[in-house]
Amino acid sequence: MVQKTLDYVKKPIIRTEYVRTSAYPGLVGMFEGRNILVTGGTRGIGLAAAKAFHVCGGTVIVTGRSPKKLREIKESFASDRFFAMEWDISDICGQEKKMEELDRIINGGVDVLVNNAGANRNEHGETAASWDEVSEMEWDHIVNTNLKATYFLIQKFAKKWVEVFPDRERHVVNVASSSGFEPAVLPYGISKWGVVALTEGFGRKLAPYGITVNGVAPGPTSTTMATKRDDSEDLSYPEIPRQCYGVPEEIANTILFLASDYGKNIVGEVVRSDGGFSLTVTGGQ
Ligand SMILES: NC(=O)c1ccc[n+]([C@@H]2O[C@H](COP(=O)([O-])OP(=O)(O)OC[C@H]3O[C@@H](n4cnc5c(N)ncnc54)[C@H](OP(=O)(O)O)[C@@H]3O)[C@@H](O)[C@H]2O)c1
Repeated sequence: MVQKTLDYVKKPIIRTEYVRTSAYPGLVGMFEGRNILVTGGTRGIGLAAAKAFHVCGGTVIVTGRSPKKLREIKESFASDRFFAMEWDISDICGQEKKMEELDRIINGGVDVLVNNAGANRNEHGETAASWDEVSEMEWDHIVNTNLKATYFLIQKFAKKWVEVFPDRERHVVNVASSSGFEPAVLPYGISKWGVVALTEGFGRKLAPYGITVNGVAPGPTSTTMATKRDDSEDLSYPEIPRQCYGVPEEIANTILFLASDYGKNIVGEVVRSDGGFSLTVTGGQ
């Protein structure tokens, strides 16, 4: 009887409309007059965040590397509050130029920076299975995209905000990962440790200037990165306490909350949104 009950509890969870809600009703209108830059916003978590900010009144700029995908996304929004920019954020030398291009697109500068673009494979879509197979090329690609780009974007935007537009409140939300809290020997996990560390560090350093830096740490989320489709129907993942993948919209909602007035008192925090995944990895019984 007890086993039967447990089997019932462990039934795979199939997605519901509820988890696909793209923005908390309480946040609607909260981003009016604010400019939000979402790196890597052409699919997955970044696209869900872009949609949610847009629904909440914001002017949104997404970046990505595929001109075709960017064109399609721009067309699908069909809005004068939505822009799509070709911008490989791992190209650190090109950042200044891209920021100038951005200034020509939007008025008043960026208010919210979402460092979302990320990579967990090398440029050919492959990844080392263990630490003794990691190549320098894979390391550079992953660490440059996830960590180096995030660091230098925060540095450049924060300098500008402090020097040029000092009187506005700004937010940075970094998309880390639950793997940023686990022992790491592969570049992805190591890069996300770095993202957690710089979120705490910049959180403390920049708060006195009205710049609030926080992060979200997703667990397995149904996107291309996790070899799922963004709109996958089967979200079953029995090893996670919640027993299913998260969906991009759930992570997006955490991003919006942290970038909103409701998140003002949260500083240098990386909020886990992982269905309890990290509790199992660290051995919680
Ligand atoms: N999905 C998960 O299970 C999971 C779990 C933990 C953390 N995360 C984190 O969540 C973030 C978003 O991941 P996701 O799952 O939504 O991934 P995704 O579906 O693969 O989307 C990644 C996005 O980033 C863009 N991108 C990748 N490299 C870029 C670069 N160098 N410059 C500009 N844009 C770039 C991609 O567009 P192009 O390829 O066209 O450039 C795409 O729009 C990442 O930081 C990831 O590490 C994801």
